[in-house]
Amino acid sequence: MSINQYYTLGRSGLRVSRLALGTMTFGTDWGWGADRETASQLFNMYVDAGGNFVDTADLYTNGTSETWVGEFIKERSLRDKVAIATKFSYNADPGNPNAGGNGRKNILRAVEGSLQRLGTDYIDLYILHTWDSITPAEEVMRTLDDLVRSGKVRYVGLSDVPAWYASRAQTTAELRGYETLSTLQLEYSLVERNIENEFVPLGTQHGMGIMVWSPLASGLLSGKYKPSEQGGEGEGRLADLAGADNPAFNKFTDRNWKIVAELEAVAKELDRSMAQVAVNWAANQPGIASVLVGATKLHQLEDNLKALEFEIPKELCDRINKASAPDPSFPYTFFTPGMQAMLTGGAIVGDKPEGYYPTVKFDAKPAGVS
Ligand SMILES: NC(=O)c1ccc[n+]([C@@H]2O[C@H](COP(=O)([O-])OP(=O)(O)OC[C@H]3O[C@@H](n4cnc5c(N)ncnc54)[C@H](OP(=O)(O)O)[C@@H]3O)[C@@H](O)[C@H]2O)c1
Repeated sequence: MSINQYYTLGRSGLRVSRLALGTMTFGTDWGWGADRETASQLFNMYVDAGGNFVDTADLYTNGTSETWVGEFIKERSLRDKVAIATKFSYNADPGNPNAGGNGRKNILRAVEGSLQRLGTDYIDLYILHTWDSITPAEEVMRTLDDLVRSGKVRYVGLSDVPAWYASRAQTTAELRGYETLSTLQLEYSLVERNIENEFVPLGTQHGMGIMVWSPLASGLLSGKYKPSEQGGEGEGRLADLAGADNPAFNKFTDRNWKIVAELEAVAKELDRSMAQVAVNWAANQPGIASVLVGATKLHQLEDNLKALEFEIPKELCDRINKASAPDPSFPYTFFTPGMQAMLTGGAIVGDKPEGYYPTVKFDAKPAGVS
């Protein structure tokens, strides 16, 4: 597998790289990103390696990320080659409740701003950024369908929503003939595996390829924070933001240090960087369509782009799987082979023949991989 092999995203016809370029680090507005020159070099390194899938959002670095992505694409006349994913939900107008969230008024406002900053007349993949706990899935899906029909958007997806909401949204789209969801963009890494319970089976069975965000847990799994030294002294976003309210940045826990230690040992045996092993692990998990790699420096992206060049042998993969296994929780404890045998009366229910639909297996091929 390499970056210039393209797979269709979920059940759509959009062909994307298995590594996408995350551009939340494009811009210094938030204090931990890259300046324009570095961001431009990161973008060029990614597309020159064969990557075609670039992720941004309207509010990343206060709009700088979208603006630069649009400019970099234009500078090299790559609009037809690059698939742009961007997102809406966050509010940049304090006191105005309709300048954020997922209601129709905000979506139709937000899309115009993104198109303008990106300097394009269409978005390849338009994603709801975060559930607002209010707007009905019917309203979101109808509005996104309108955007597809108007030509401003090609494909649609959801990020950071409850699984029941994504399931309802997809079912509504299927039954009403709206554009269906091609993707779920979710946090996933060796230290954050909760999506395995609901989202992986949901995406695999219902046509949504998972786009992984923070595969390095914001840098924790990159190797710069040393478990042997029991601390977050490494230079980078996590050290800068330690103690912040955002749970995505609170990664220095005893449990996570144990996972980092096992990753360090496995990476050493493979003679690969910890970042490469962590990204490779995520990219090869069931249901994963594309992994978003982020960087603030060129050497980081250079490192991460090599993540698909090797295989993690089963024995080593078992070790990091075991070290990072989530605690069993209800009701998933009832779906283990042992408990399921109580439903089948102990009879062995074998796998369906290859190609038989639906294939509901946790070790199924990633969504969209044929
Ligand atoms: N939908 C959502 O809610 C959501 C949320 C977050 C992100 N995203 C998307 O996902 C993308 C990736 O997220 P992320 O930036 O959090 O990913 P990540 O891979 O977990 O973290 C990337 C950061 O880790 C450090 N790093 C990366 N590679 C390294 C290497 N080889 N060696 C040492 N340090 C390395 C860099 O930060 P430092 O140099 O600062 O250490 C880099 O910015 C974002 O750009 C964005 O597009 C989406």
